Amino acid sequence: MTANGIRHFLDLSDFSGATLRDIVDAGAAMKARRRTPADAGDKPLAGKFVAMVFEQPSLRTRMSFDVGIRELGGEPVMVTGKEIELGEREAIADTARVLSRFVDAIMIRMLKHDALLELAKYATVPVINGLTKKSHPCQVMADLLTFEEHKGPIRGRTVAWTGDSNNVLASWIEAAARFDFRLRVATPPELAPGAAIVDWAKREGADVSLGHDAEEAVSGADAVVTDSWVSMGDGDGERRHNLLKPFQVDERLMGLAAPDAIFMHCLPAHRGEEVTDAVIDGPQSVVFDEAENRLHAQKGVLAWCFGAVSA
Ligand code: CP
Ligand code: NVA
Repeated sequence: MTANGIRHFLDLSDFSGATLRDIVDAGAAMKARRRTPADAGDKPLAGKFVAMVFEQPSLRTRMSFDVGIRELGGEPVMVTGKEIELGEREAIADTARVLSRFVDAIMIRMLKHDALLELAKYATVPVINGLTKKSHPCQVMADLLTFEEHKGPIRGRTVAWTGDSNNVLASWIEAAARFDFRLRVATPPELAPGAAIVDWAKREGADVSLGHDAEEAVSGADAVVTDSWVSMGDGDGERRHNLLKPFQVDERLMGLAAPDAIFMHCLPAHRGEEVTDAVIDGPQSVVFDEAENRLHAQKGVLAWCFGAVSA
């Protein structure tokens, strides 16, 4: 989303398919030339500082942004939400104004999406969504890159989601609209996607079907995707586990997908819950490629934020 000429990366729905395609392709190109002589002069973040603010724990987002910023010539500055007491010690708007005086971009993980939007509204530097309760766009950019590395262009293909409806699924739904693939979703009725994202998908003409039968969703799919049953900020773990048991990805369910289907999970995984060891450690699993591709896809995102990829 470009606001006052500032290139924020907040949600996939803010972008045209063409821009997102350019960003994924830029990430793929950077991956291909990484650590080769061709990469040496490619430093769109040279002399730039990027704040990395985490209100929740992280391994992948923390590492991939830290390494990616450095590889692009920039310098990350890490701060936890606890240290700055975000939204408590001072208004989010003032935090945004102050951070903008020190750094050239802000990557932030916080549960409250409205607070992210408030931060972006008052920041005078790009803001990147590193996960909110509503969405996880950087993850799905990496997932798109991963899908295409293994399966070729995603346009017209079928992706199945089974399990909880959460932030990662919301970004997959937005991606389905922008990259023109079919998304079949199976969740318990009580944990189905909310009206806002469902209405958005309808308005955008996305090919997204919602149901409650994991077998039906997965049948013949090119990729089977799941995520934790209990996301950060969720309560009521025991009830969620009971509702979600029929949505576990095991070998039998995976066997209903296309024979060459891939298994995807953003990690961290809860083995024996949403996925069995046999599937996540099996030959169809691409979960560690997804983790690595956070680095490459986000280098595309960072390059776009700093004007090195076309709008
Ligand atoms: N997938 C993901 O965002 O992982 P982290 O929570 O470890 O950053
Ligand atoms: N849906 C998970 C993703 C973690 C990367 C969560 O929000 O906790």
